[in-house]
Amino acid sequence: MRFAIVIMAAGKGTRLKSKRAKVLHHIGGKALLEHVILAATQIVPPEDVYVVVGHQAGAVQAAVASTGVKFVTQAEQRGTGHAIQTVREAVSGYEHLIVLSGDVPLLQPETIARLRDFHLSERSAMTILTAAPDDPNDYGRVLRKSPASAEAIAIVEQKALTPEQEKVREINSGIYAFATEHLFKNISELTTSNAHGEYYLTDMARILVQEKQKVVAIEADSATEVLGANTIVEMVELDAAMRLSIAHKLMEQGVTIYRPETTVIDSDVKVGADTIIEPFVQLLGDTQIGEDCRIRSYSVIENSMLDHHVLIRQGCIINDSRIHSSAELGPYARLRPGSEIGEEAHVGNFVETKKMRLGKGSKASHLSYLGDAEIGSGVNIGAGTITCNYDGVNKHRTLIEDGAFVGSHSTLVAPLVIGQGAYIAGGSTITEDVPPDALALGRTRQTTKVEWAKSRRSQIHAAKEVEKSRQG
Ligand code: UD1
Ligand code: CA
Repeated sequence: MRFAIVIMAAGKGTRLKSKRAKVLHHIGGKALLEHVILAATQIVPPEDVYVVVGHQAGAVQAAVASTGVKFVTQAEQRGTGHAIQTVREAVSGYEHLIVLSGDVPLLQPETIARLRDFHLSERSAMTILTAAPDDPNDYGRVLRKSPASAEAIAIVEQKALTPEQEKVREINSGIYAFATEHLFKNISELTTSNAHGEYYLTDMARILVQEKQKVVAIEADSATEVLGANTIVEMVELDAAMRLSIAHKLMEQGVTIYRPETTVIDSDVKVGADTIIEPFVQLLGDTQIGEDCRIRSYSVIENSMLDHHVLIRQGCIINDSRIHSSAELGPYARLRPGSEIGEEAHVGNFVETKKMRLGKGSKASHLSYLGDAEIGSGVNIGAGTITCNYDGVNKHRTLIEDGAFVGSHSTLVAPLVIGQGAYIAGGSTITEDVPPDALALGRTRQTTKVEWAKSRRSQIHAAKEVEKSRQG
């Protein structure tokens, strides 16, 4: 019982009014086609998945090549029926085909399996996956023999509906199973005499019924799952639906997400139980968050790993970084790629880091730039400390050993080593290595002029008196 899955993804997506091919538009942080391929490859191995490409074929193929699926080129896009004609040779060795649309991205593998099983148990030539959404407009409608019958007689496209047929609420999802032999024996019957002048795959229902073949329809459990993305409005609605379902899945695993409709969580993100996510948080890409963390509002975390008990206060921006357990960040910390924050370390407001490691229990609590730096454990980085890592040509490293104390507003000109337990006096510009346990002062000594301010004020006062008497 060999099954192939064909994914139709060659269309331009005219209704999107976009330069980019429709199936490359993203929802839930992934291209539409990636979602469909993910579902398909849970039903058959990737080498049995055939993606029909055409419009921007190169870009579409490049975007999903790593999945191991096969591609068939439909050079001219003359409709969904024509797309299937194009794969005829490639899939001739399979007994059955499941046809998916590249623009129906919420479809779950369980639903594909239900379609497949129903198709086999009914021994039908064509099995149509249907749904009954609140608004059936713009979808093809499925006409059954009678309301209770599994058998269908035709699919009628929106533009061809009679007033009577417009009342039919059961739509064609664009997802089907076919017995390969019957499909290709009759596919040449398709014509382009319709509103779009295209070969409609939907016409196969009527054609097969005429040929006395069995055509059946099965309704999906959820209408949302089979909604198509044809316009930006639909795309954004599906994105919201997908993200809400991601949030619900996480909540079922013990994550608390307040106001989930405001969060933006990509589909591959993992979050541990007892973690709390506040409103307006974004968790993107390949992000993993441990247990018992709290991610406060307006933080955006991308491609990063957080261990357990991490606190991210409001407004942090974290990219390609790693944060160890019980660390605390923000508000308004910015971790650029390659930052690693140690256990129990603190990174406070308006601190920017890049390619740096902060050791266990170290603190950089306010207003600093720490780049290309290796900072040990138990280090205190005073407010306003800057690692001067760039000399205009090359980047240089700063090494600050365990237990060092860097006073506020220090300028650390790399390359530089500050030894274990050393002190840097506040306001210093440090250009030379500091040995362990030393104190380094890199600033001019303070001069204090006693009574200077008082005498200046009396000078000003005297000058004003002279001026007044001159005018008087
Ligand atoms: C199609 C169905 C409609 C159904 C709806 C469900 C037809 C004629 N109509 O309409 O009954 O309710 O899906 O979402 O099939 N494609 C190709 N090559 C082509 C044309 C299209 O690969 O030559 C691909 C598109 O990239 C897309 C899919 O086929 O992924 C569906 O095409 P689309 O134009 O979006 O069909 P709909 O008008 O939505
Ligand atoms: Ca569509």
